[in-house]
Amino acid sequence: MDIATTSEWGTVSALAESFDALDLRRLFADDAGRVERLSFSVGDLLVDMSKHRVSDEIVTALVALAQRAGLDRRVESMMRGERINTTENRAVLHTALRAPAGTVIEAEGHDVVSDVHDLRRRMAAFCGRLRDGDWVGCTGAPVDTVVNIGIGGSDLGPSMAYEALAAYRHERLRCRFVSNVDSRDLLAALSDLDPATTLFVVASKTFTTSETLTNAVSARRWLTDALGDAAVARHFAAVSTNQAAVTEFGIEAANMFEMWDWVGGRYSLDSAIGLSLMAAVGPERFEEMLSGMRIIDEHFAAEPLSRNVPVLAGLIAVWYRTFCGLPTRAVLPYSQALRRFTAYLQQLDMESNGKRVRLDGEPVGCETGPIVWGEPGTNGQHSFHQLLHQGTTVVPCDFIVFARPDHRAVAEEAGAEATGHHELLVANCLAQAEALAFGRTTEEVAASGIAPDLAPHRTFPGNRPSTTIMAPRLTPSVLGQLIALYEHQTMAQGVVWGINSFDQWGVELGKSLAAAITPELSAPEPLPLAHDPSTNALIARYRELASRGLGAGDG
Ligand code: F6P
Repeated sequence: MDIATTSEWGTVSALAESFDALDLRRLFADDAGRVERLSFSVGDLLVDMSKHRVSDEIVTALVALAQRAGLDRRVESMMRGERINTTENRAVLHTALRAPAGTVIEAEGHDVVSDVHDLRRRMAAFCGRLRDGDWVGCTGAPVDTVVNIGIGGSDLGPSMAYEALAAYRHERLRCRFVSNVDSRDLLAALSDLDPATTLFVVASKTFTTSETLTNAVSARRWLTDALGDAAVARHFAAVSTNQAAVTEFGIEAANMFEMWDWVGGRYSLDSAIGLSLMAAVGPERFEEMLSGMRIIDEHFAAEPLSRNVPVLAGLIAVWYRTFCGLPTRAVLPYSQALRRFTAYLQQLDMESNGKRVRLDGEPVGCETGPIVWGEPGTNGQHSFHQLLHQGTTVVPCDFIVFARPDHRAVAEEAGAEATGHHELLVANCLAQAEALAFGRTTEEVAASGIAPDLAPHRTFPGNRPSTTIMAPRLTPSVLGQLIALYEHQTMAQGVVWGINSFDQWGVELGKSLAAAITPELSAPEPLPLAHDPSTNALIARYRELASRGLGAGDG
């Protein structure tokens, strides 16, 4: 079905024609119940959507559009294990990873939930030994550092959550994350490590990703140069679907943790990909994170679309991107612990919804996934917030803020209790959302005594929309709730657009071209080049520069 031909789409389009006239000052002034109606509590999250340029009529029309797109049926199909990822012929069952024991969810006639719980027991036993100092390396010394080698979903989830849950980390056991094939990443991670106390977790769903395998091979050489080939058995573990490749690499079957093809990379933190995180925060905290995800899963599955928080958030994102033409979306956590959260969401959202054809292969015919970007507050206020407030582009923002700080982490890292920081952090978050929404008119500027020639520069147009998500504290459960909230809103958007949010064919062309170019860069004699003239010239230039060694400015 081409959703753009439906009357529901027509209704939303017609409403979007008056987008410029939707004025947040007026919407608030005319409606005392707005905040109450557009603020939602789910789990520990308060999600205030009242500062969006939507009316009740618009929300109702968006919900009708989602209904017409079959969102509720699609959510059911996903959670039942149907192969909704049709271009890869796979089920999409990340929600099964946090289903309670005893639930039955079948993929291909087989209950996956019991497999998930069996695997998690193995993960917990492994992590328990690491945390107790009982997992010793080949010299008999306990492991003190877990180095996760992975990229994309095999890195961003665990590394983001490791930062987010810093307050819950084990006191002795630490993690490092290596993703970039730029050797500086690996070398920096290893620079102060002792091979005898280091364990590598090679995390790769496919075990074919060139960056990860290149880093893993170099890590293995670093280890075996120091401790000999036999050390691999005690110092390497793997997370993958690809048992044959893991074995060929030399990792023992007992140290391999299984993945399934029904877990997408960007939806995999709660699978064995979270092994390094579990080692750091412990199995109980990991389970708390899963329970948080489950709270949102249950809400997403059961709540009517009109009160369904991830659905409403997704629909508002569709409203801005598709109907109002706003190309980007900023996610601004006012939490240093969430400093990697936006990077994590970039993969989740942009790899899911950066699509130009529908499930049936036809062009989608409208704008799809927005560009997601952002940095933690308050840092962004002193760089790009200028554009948010006074630029010519309207950027819908998500603010994320916590009522209580992470005192333990602050105290440990700063070596002292930091007072007064948190109120300032929260005040800045709330102030940014207020300033964006309501601005400062030229009259207000003039009334404050600013010279008339400066008034236009000091005026804030306002009417810039945002969501504020507030939670008591960044606990493992709250982190799980936030992750699932974004996972499901990403899916909701994709369903309205009629695209497949669960494949990622767009990453393939670059991978195969890089595989072709690699030998062309390194062959002793130039190989015949069949690229475009620009790429051919760049390859030739690279060979010339690389063969010269250090340039004048490098010495
Ligand atoms: O290149 C994209 C991608 O396939 C992501 O979807 C995935 O998270 C990442 O690469 C890593 O893949 P793997 O876990 O198979 O190494």
